[in-house]
Amino acid sequence: MNTIIPIASGKGGVGKTIFTANLGIALANKGKTVIAIDLDLGSSNLHTCLGIKNRHPGTCFI
Ligand SMILES: Nc1ncnc2c1ncn2[C@@H]1O[C@H](COP(=O)(O)OP(=O)(O)OP(=O)(O)O)[C@@H](O)[C@H]1O
Ligand SMILES: [Mg+2]
Repeated sequence: MNTIIPIASGKGGVGKTIFTANLGIALANKGKTVIAIDLDLGSSNLHTCLGIKNRHPGTCFI
């Protein structure tokens, strides 16, 4: 079964991206297949928390 976990708040550095990265890592470590998408169309930066390049500028699919 697929589960979608939306993580959202207003813009402003409350920790959405860091939380998403850590949650994704934790689920992957448990053997889950994880697709993380940073839908901040203007300044997605999830890739920076994971130390990888963003191959899709504007959004971040990992
Ligand atoms: N629990 C925490 N403890 C300490 N620092 C934190 C914590 N959560 C986030 N930070 C730091 O706060 C800053 C903003 O976090 P983050 O980028 O995850 O916020 P965001 O909600 O995604 O922001 P934005 O709305 O701009 O996308 C980062 O430098 C991050 O390392
Ligand atoms: Mg963010």
